[in-house]
Formats: sequence, C-alpha cells, structure tokens
Amino acid sequence: MYKTILTSLEKGIYLITINRPDKLNAINKDVMQDINDVADEIEKKAEIKAAIITGAGAKAFVAGADITEFNGLNHEQGMELARKGQNAFFKIENNSKPIVAAVNGFALGGGCELAMACHFRIASENAKFGQPEVNLGLIPGYGGTQRLTQLIGKGRALELLMTGNMIDANTALNYGLVNYVVPQEELISKTKSIIEIIISKAPIAIAKCITAANAGYSGKEGFDIEIKGFGECFKSDDMKEGSAAFLQKRKPLFTGK
Ligand code: COA
Repeated sequence: MYKTILTSLEKGIYLITINRPDKLNAINKDVMQDINDVADEIEKKAEIKAAIITGAGAKAFVAGADITEFNGLNHEQGMELARKGQNAFFKIENNSKPIVAAVNGFALGGGCELAMACHFRIASENAKFGQPEVNLGLIPGYGGTQRLTQLIGKGRALELLMTGNMIDANTALNYGLVNYVVPQEELISKTKSIIEIIISKAPIAIAKCITAANAGYSGKEGFDIEIKGFGECFKSDDMKEGSAAFLQKRKPLFTGK
C-alpha cells in the first residue's frame, strides 16, 4: 500500500516509520504522498486510535525535503511543492487522532517541519533539530516559519531560521520544542506509554482538545506567505547555487541574486 513508509498496528497505536535510511529518510515525492495518504488512513480507520511517526535507522528522523528533486524547478513548481507539503502536514496537525513524533536523530528542514506538525514530540538523546534551508538559498516551505515560531517563540525561531544552525535534543527540550529526551532504545516505549494514557480517555474529548488547541493558531496568512516566499527563492541564482553546492558536497557561494 505504501512505497516509502512502514506501518504496524498494535493495540490501537499505529507505528509509522519513514523508510529511506540510506538518504536519511529525506522526503521525496513518494514519501510526501505516503505521509498524505497515511494521515487520511489514520483519520478514517476506527481501529487506529493514535499514531507515532519515526524514522528508519539510528541516525535520522528525516533530514529534510529531498534536495535532488529541487533541481530545475521553476517558481510555480516551487510553490506547488510547498503547497502539497503544507496540505499533507495540515492533515497531521488537524487529525482527530493524536499523532506524536518520536524523533530518533536528525530532524532537519522538512523533517523538523514534519515533527512540528505532529501534536507533540519526544526525542532521543542523539536528535538534532534545525531549519537549514538558508544554506540552500531557500526558506522552509512546509510550515516551518509558522510552527517553529509558534512552538519556541519568534526570537529563537528567527535565529534558527536565519542561521540554519542545528540545536541538540536538550536545547530543544529547553526551548519547548520537545516534551522529553530519552535514550534512543527507550524512545518508542516512552512514546507509547504516553499515548496509552491518551487513548484510555474519551476519543471525542481528545479530538476536541486537538481542534480547540489548533483553533488558536488557525490563521493561514503566514503559511500562504511562506509558500510564496519559497516559490520566489526558486527564481534566484543563490537557490540554484545552494542546492548544487549541497549535492556537490561543497560550500555555496552566494551573490544575493
Ligand atoms: N536530500 C537528499 N539527500 C539527502 C538529504 C536531503 N535532504 N539529506 C541527506 N541526504 C543524503 C546525502 O546526499 C547522502 O547521500 P549519498 O550517500 O548518496 O551521498 C546520504 O543522504 C547520507 O547523508 P550525508 O550528508 O553523507 O551524511 P552526514 O552524516 O555527512 O550529514 C546531515 C548528515 C544531515 C548533516 C546532512 O546530510 C545534511 O546536511 N542534509 C541536508 C539537510 C538539509 O539541508 N535539509 C533541508 C532540505 S530543504
């Protein structure tokens, strides 16, 4: 049913594993389609009470959007990529069932954005978070400029967005980006133990907690501006240089054009 994710259902908890470990689980078109479809599946299937999203392997949750797919995209196609990503991530954020990110390593770019679209996050000690898009001459496109600001505040968010720096799991805990930091081998069991409490409660009440909490952040304007800005970056020489430099494993040389 899915090309790029693994799923298993145990006692009502759906474990979803993004499964491209040799590419650090980077989100290509197929992964995004699978995330979109699995969010629909969680919503529809009565036997699924809650879900966990994690990454395959010990190194990465998700190291971002797949940079190889940026090559040759024009302004419109850039906007379309961001729009699709945002739509899939809204399905996670607005799901009536709890969806928790178990962040088992790098959560960068689209990976940090995926984790932030989940209802909350638990990290392993080796997890690292960041929005490194500026290194590519780009900005986040899957809601990162909005949700990072909501979760850690504007000053900290803008520092991370503009430096592209990564933070470790304990800094993420200190910032309120994650709720707990645990040894990697305890990550899934800790996440499950919290979800078990949640799914022992009344599902209608749980769904209403999610809807009400999200309602305070329902403005779409910032997300639309993000799509526009993401698309406009695709017109620039710096964006072409940034993604070429990553793929050629060298430092980018930005000119401001
Ligand atoms: N898109 C496409 N491929 C990616 C990727 C991404 N976002 N992130 C990692 N990969 C690939 C690498 O190209 C490499 O592939 P290769 O073995 O065919 O060369 C493989 O995954 C392993 O990554 P590598 O960079 O060799 O691992 P590392 O331990 O040296 O560095 C990171 C790890 C996470 C620091 C580094 O991979 C990185 O900076 N990734 C990009 C992060 C990013 O900019 N994300 C935002 C995208 S919008």
